[in-house]
Amino acid sequence: MARQTMVSIFPEMKAFADHTPDLEAALTVRNLTKSFGAERVLDDVSFTVAEGESLVLLGHSGSGKSTTLRLIAGLEHPDGGEIFLHGRSVERLRARDRNVGVIFQNYALFPRMTVAENIGFGLRIRGVKSHKRAEITDRMLVLIGLAEHRDKYPWQISGGQQQRVAIARALAYEPDVLLFDESFSALDPQTRVGLRRDIRALLRRLRVPALFITHDQEEAMELGDHIAILNRGRLEQTGTPDQVYNEPKTEFVATFLGAANVVAAIAHTGAIELDPERLLPIRYNSVNPGPVKVVFRPEDVVLSTPASTPETPYPLGRGEIVDVSFTGASEAVMVRLTGKGELSSISEARSQFQTGSLQRSSARSGIVIKALRTKWDARHFGLHPGDAVSVGLRHFSVLVD
Ligand SMILES: Nc1ncnc2c1ncn2[C@@H]1O[C@H](COP(=O)(O)OP(=O)(O)O)[C@@H](O)[C@H]1O
Ligand SMILES: [Mg+2]
Repeated sequence: MARQTMVSIFPEMKAFADHTPDLEAALTVRNLTKSFGAERVLDDVSFTVAEGESLVLLGHSGSGKSTTLRLIAGLEHPDGGEIFLHGRSVERLRARDRNVGVIFQNYALFPRMTVAENIGFGLRIRGVKSHKRAEITDRMLVLIGLAEHRDKYPWQISGGQQQRVAIARALAYEPDVLLFDESFSALDPQTRVGLRRDIRALLRRLRVPALFITHDQEEAMELGDHIAILNRGRLEQTGTPDQVYNEPKTEFVATFLGAANVVAAIAHTGAIELDPERLLPIRYNSVNPGPVKVVFRPEDVVLSTPASTPETPYPLGRGEIVDVSFTGASEAVMVRLTGKGELSSISEARSQFQTGSLQRSSARSGIVIKALRTKWDARHFGLHPGDAVSVGLRHFSVLVD
């Protein structure tokens, strides 16, 4: 996919985006490439995990996430590029000399060892004396809240508890960085959410740098101080959860991180034209004239009565309700902008946003966009298919090819 540049319409957000914390890097990956046979799995991947921070590598299955982790852990060798732990190249270090802790999806606990023995294992192979080992193991058991389960075997504890043991086993020998490969995906949703919060709090408290790998955008948002989005072996964008969600640089990022309206438009000097009756203001000279895409989230769309103008910075004129679906906390509304124009795509990355009856292939022309309202807005101002509304945007960003 072609690289696209993003133009922020909020100068203050741009300033925020430019502010990178000046922290010593725990892990630096520079220009990493890797092929398996003819397949290029990683293409010029670079990122940094700052000291005490967590970075989430987010991408679809097969995008190269596990390969990245295996290269860092020394389980695989790169074709090109460099990996540094605390500024030191790991090129000549074998896997077991790299001092990284890896937590896999299946936890890989030793079935014939108790919880306490599992936690002490990494210390034992590093030659830590038994009394010191016992002391650290006790501390770890308290840290993960499993002191009373110390003599149980892995099959006698739950998946969430096994995950805690795997993390304690890695933390025990004070790794330079913790690497989590889809570690939460096998857990039931309730356990997963609870454990994620605990792990995040624990890592913050201990200031252990971590690289999480996941295909789950909600998990990425929750765990990452920064998120790096990987698409077919290439990094599309790296930023804080706020930056990648609200100021996506590519269509892939915009649509992967949740539902997004992506509308083809034309940039003129000082304005973006969705259709001849719909112009969005942009800062003078911030986008070169030519074809662009306007991206906005369903929750950035505001609907009001046809007689009024929505109290938003960017009015979009009149629209007609095509479909309404209530999902509990929120209501999804499909709106056709009455006038010319063509919808490029509506992404449905999250099942919670799925309406089940997307009006994409309507007989009538006109841009169809998705709006998300709170249940209170829905109650206050009820909408039904065929109703006329006024449409406005709170926020949008512009993708330039
Ligand atoms: N050892 C290997 N030999 C050949 N192909 C591999 C090997 N490991 C991974 N791949 C391929 O590399 C691609 C990326 O795999 P992986 O890094 O595991 O993706 P992810 O973890 O993002 O799902 C996949 O197409 C996979 O089949
Ligand atoms: Mg994987």
